[in-house]
This record gives sequence, C-alpha cells and structure tokens, in this order.
Amino acid sequence: MDWDSFFAVHSDLPREGPGEAQDVAWALALAGLPEGAAICDAGAGAGGDVEALLAVPGARVMAIDTHPGFVAQMRARFAGEGRVRVEAVDMTTLAEHPEAPFDMIWCAGALYFLGLEEGLARMAAALKPGGVLAFSEPSFLTDAPSDDAWAFWEGYPVRDAAGIASAVAAAGYESLGTRVLGDAAWEAYYAPMEARIAALRGGADAALAAMLDLCAGEAAQWRRVKRETGYLLTVARWQG
Ligand SMILES: C[S@@+](CC[C@H](N)C(=O)[O-])C[C@H]1O[C@@H](n2cnc3c(N)ncnc32)[C@H](O)[C@@H]1O
Repeated sequence: MDWDSFFAVHSDLPREGPGEAQDVAWALALAGLPEGAAICDAGAGAGGDVEALLAVPGARVMAIDTHPGFVAQMRARFAGEGRVRVEAVDMTTLAEHPEAPFDMIWCAGALYFLGLEEGLARMAAALKPGGVLAFSEPSFLTDAPSDDAWAFWEGYPVRDAAGIASAVAAAGYESLGTRVLGDAAWEAYYAPMEARIAALRGGADAALAAMLDLCAGEAAQWRRVKRETGYLLTVARWQG
C-alpha cells in the first residue's frame, strides 16, 4: 500500500466507511445505555460516527484508531468537545486500556480487520458484563453471490446473516437486532471520496493516479454488486 497516495485520497473525508447517523440512533435505542455511559468507537477512522454516539446523555466517547493520520485528524475535529477522547490504540489491546471496560463498543466496518471470531472475543474482553457491541460486518444478501460479489471483499470469508448470528451467539452474546446498511450509508462514504478523486486527477503522478483508479474502482464495483452484498449491522449484548 502506498500510504502517501492513500492518505492524499482519504485525508479529511467525513467518514472512512459506510454509515449514517440513523443507524447509530437505531443501535443506541436497542442498547438502552445508562446516562453517562462509557462508549468506545473502535476503528473510528475519521470519527464520522462520534457525534451521533454523543446523543446518549452525558456519554463519554473514546475514539480509537491505529492510523496516525486518522488519529491526528480526529484530534483536530473534536478538539473542542470535552466528552471525546481520541487515542492511538490497537483494538486487539483495548481490554488493557485504563478506560476499559465500556458500556458500549461501536465498531463500524472495522471488526473484520481482526476477523469475526477474534473481533468478537477482543470486544467482549473490553465490555462491562451486560455491555453492548454494535458492529457492521461484510455479509451476503443472496444465497448465490456472484464472483464479482466475492471479489469485492478480496478473499475475506464473508458470511450470510445466519452465519454472523451463529458466530455472535457462540462468542457469548445475545443479539438485540440486525439491519442491513442502506445505499445512503455507502454513498455517505463514496460520494465525498469520489469528489476528492475528481479534484486530484489533474495533477496526479503515477502512484497517485494508480490509487485514484483503485479507489474509484471500489466505488464502481460496489454499485455493481450492492444488491448481493453489503454490511450487516448487529447490536448484541455481552452475556459475561
Ligand atoms: C473501513 S474504516 C471504518 C472507519 C469508521 N468506523 C467509519 O465507519 O467511518 C476501518 C478503520 O479501522 C481501523 N483499524 C484497522 N485495524 C485496526 C486495529 N487493529 N485497531 C484499531 N483500528 C483499526 C483503520 O485504520 C480504519 O480507520
């Protein structure tokens, strides 16, 4: 990965993966968090969901990511917000962080970086007993996904909703609800990225041009396969 070119496309975008505020609100309604809840946004990227998470009265949100550029960007974005703390923390070590355990972990489009089973276990270790995990996970929306739909996830072992549900139960969670992210959630990610690609095209060197093609190709590929695959958002209570 050419990180300079990656960050030329991705710096200061409003979000780094599909999502919209109404999905966060839906998850918070299911979670029923206490006032002043401790929430972690794990793999927060640009912090696109932090504001929606702050809807819980008195909640404190710790937004973590491993990418230094995103951490710096979030620190600037939430500099005036006393209820937000931004940290360069790896999700695999979240349970050891002094702010853990949490009432809720929100993990949008990031748990699968660890793999589903490891991600569920790592998050459980960082939750209070009865705490809630909300995560979006690549999923197939058809029984017969095309080669194109498989290729979109570049070899990730994508499951259908039943497969995700059984992994959630096996990891010791009670599912509170699931929903498929809508097209608007994906466009909230791709539309600003495509505007950035268009702005950078003119002066791009070879490395940047290759990155622009890669990112533009991903958005185009999603539009071809979006009826077959997407993100399933699951809200689940840790039974520990
Ligand atoms: C697809 S982006 C989603 C970002 C954000 N949640 C959103 O929806 O806009 C995934 C993010 O997870 C972060 N990430 C990947 N592995 C991580 C890890 N082990 N610990 C913390 N963050 C990680 C990446 O740096 C990236 O910002």
